[in-house]
Amino acid sequence: MADLEIKNLHASVGEKQILKGLNLTVNRGEIHALMGPNGSGKSTLANVIMGNPQLDVTEGQIIWKGEDITELDPDVRARKGLFMAFQYPVAIPGVTIVKYLRMVLNAHREERGEAEISLKDFRKLVQSEMERTNVPKEFGSRYLNDGFSGGEKKRLEMLQLALQRPDVAILDETDSGLDVDALNTVSQAVNAIRAESPLGALIITHYQRILHLITPDRVSILVDGRIVKEGGPELVTQIEEHGYKAIRAEAEAAGASTANVV
Ligand SMILES: Nc1ncnc2c1ncn2[C@@H]1O[C@H](COP(=O)(O)OP(=O)(O)OP(=O)(O)O)[C@@H](O)[C@H]1O
Ligand SMILES: [Mg+2]
Repeated sequence: MADLEIKNLHASVGEKQILKGLNLTVNRGEIHALMGPNGSGKSTLANVIMGNPQLDVTEGQIIWKGEDITELDPDVRARKGLFMAFQYPVAIPGVTIVKYLRMVLNAHREERGEAEISLKDFRKLVQSEMERTNVPKEFGSRYLNDGFSGGEKKRLEMLQLALQRPDVAILDETDSGLDVDALNTVSQAVNAIRAESPLGALIITHYQRILHLITPDRVSILVDGRIVKEGGPELVTQIEEHGYKAIRAEAEAAGASTANVV
């Protein structure tokens, strides 16, 4: 059984159906890249996995380690080890980055039945992970919604990932808007974490750049709310060279033949 299993997922916003029977798995230790044209439903999938209340799941299931989490609250999912970067804390005013990171870490430790981390140990840990993820020390005392730049936010996301060590992380366009150095830092951080713990990740991206630095084990292509193709890293090159046209046509032909059978 896969750690994260998405089964026949249908999701909509209001009247608009966005995911139309999506199947996908992500395992600990596995890098699964998700690609697809604009508007195909990638971010929607990430949001549904995390439990964003704006989206209605109308059919299908999200199974996490054998448990159906389709109806659970976002923070409960996060505590169960699904990685959610800086999403729910925005509601908490006056919390610094370091304080927030410690809150999250302790929430996870509590879930695993472990004691709170001491302030001394936490300081040591956060300092070494900040060096690894290239997050300047002074960021720690800034506030959560304190006007960080796009690239800075991504690095903070990596810092959270390094501290939290989730089993599976959903990274939606972690590479977009990063300069070359920042992209290298982010990739190195992910690879270093993977060398120490079996991190699994669903990496949503449009570009092969990041996938050269973090090699995917599997690649899935999402078109119009469904996974239409799965393969290895060679799919990434194929898309970069030929776009989604051939894959769309293939999917439509397959859809048409299925429709004929039915
Ligand atoms: N809250 C919302 N209200 C209305 N429509 C929405 C909402 N969220 C998503 N959609 C629509 O659902 C479709 C899929 O959007 P989504 O953001 O999942 O695409 P995507 O695959 O992530 O695209 P991109 O590559 O551009 O990031 C789009 O047509 C979008 O307009
Ligand atoms: Mg998106």
